[in-house]
Amino acid sequence: MPFRIVSGDITKLHVDAIVNAANTSLLGGGGVDGAIHRAAGPRLLEECRTLNGCRTGEAKVTQGYDLPAKYVIHTVGPIWQGGHRGEEELLRSAYRNSLLLAREKHCESVAFPMISAGVYGYPKEQALEVAVSTIRAFLDEEENDMEVLLVIFDRGSFRFDVHLYSEISGYIRNTYDEEKERGSILGDAAKTVAFGGVSGSRRSIFARSKKEAIDSCEMECSAMPELMAAAAAPNDLKAALENLDESFSQSLLRLIDSKGMKDSECYKKANIDRKLFSKIRSDVNYRPSKQTVLAFAVALELDLSETEAFLKKAGFALSHSNKADVIVEYFIANRNYDMYSINQALFAFDQNLLGA
Ligand code: APR
Repeated sequence: MPFRIVSGDITKLHVDAIVNAANTSLLGGGGVDGAIHRAAGPRLLEECRTLNGCRTGEAKVTQGYDLPAKYVIHTVGPIWQGGHRGEEELLRSAYRNSLLLAREKHCESVAFPMISAGVYGYPKEQALEVAVSTIRAFLDEEENDMEVLLVIFDRGSFRFDVHLYSEISGYIRNTYDEEKERGSILGDAAKTVAFGGVSGSRRSIFARSKKEAIDSCEMECSAMPELMAAAAAPNDLKAALENLDESFSQSLLRLIDSKGMKDSECYKKANIDRKLFSKIRSDVNYRPSKQTVLAFAVALELDLSETEAFLKKAGFALSHSNKADVIVEYFIANRNYDMYSINQALFAFDQNLLGA
């Protein structure tokens, strides 16, 4: 998953690099700086002494020593002085220069604390917005295939959009409670249903006879009669979804075409890493997780009924007895397809994030 928000202690993470919210001396301090030096051991300070400090917004790298991480990227965030001294620009630079340095060291994964959101007093909601938007801009660049984690050490420093939080809370209250006893029709235990189909699009490399495909696929989910009925009956969903005989991966590729998207644009928007997408593209019977299907539904900006049809193809359904589903349903119903906002909301409500 290219972008992930996680709770925990950054010094414990097994990633290629962790980022230290240091001060310009690079000679240690409190907060995450102190924690990293303690965990890395005295050799970290010895190497830091050779770096001659670091300017605010810039970044320098050392070995990780006793840390699980291979590298420590030391950056210095701005001290908050009211917001009119270029603090935002300096904070963005701290994140971006750290990401560029991680790329230079060929890191596949890098973890950030909330830079400047502690001792340096940057307002937490604004610090989160700068962090997420700067990381997103970096990951949206075609050549940047890295896993970036934003580590929330104490929940108090995660200040999600208050207005959106209360809107979603209201939606959960109305939807989630009223349906609690009603489980999902298909449930999450349903297996993927993969049909081969005849399709005229460029994706027909998987085309197989419908009978051969149905005979060959294992059906364990109780929803089989329902799905077979749907497969037999004509479907009024958009052209891209109309052919219910298609497998999940065939439909996904056809939907990407029908939306005029590039593959990379779609999987990046879905917070899906490139390797997983290649696997989906090359395997007609790929069995996606529900999170993966939902992530692509968001990236393709499907409406609720299209999302339901897309989920059903993979043997899943939106369930009002699942809080994460209710939260994603809120965003789709309000046509808010911003994956970063959705994942911040899921994190705020202690739910698994979308993507893979
Ligand atoms: N893992 C992850 N995040 C952590 C950890 C940890 N072990 N410890 C603290 N944090 C979080 C804090 O909760 C905060 O959200 O790191 C964020 C940044 O807080 P600070 O460490 O205070 O860093 P900052 O606000 O950038 O101030 C930097 O503080 O420690 C000194 O030497 C440092 O002078 C520099 C200043």
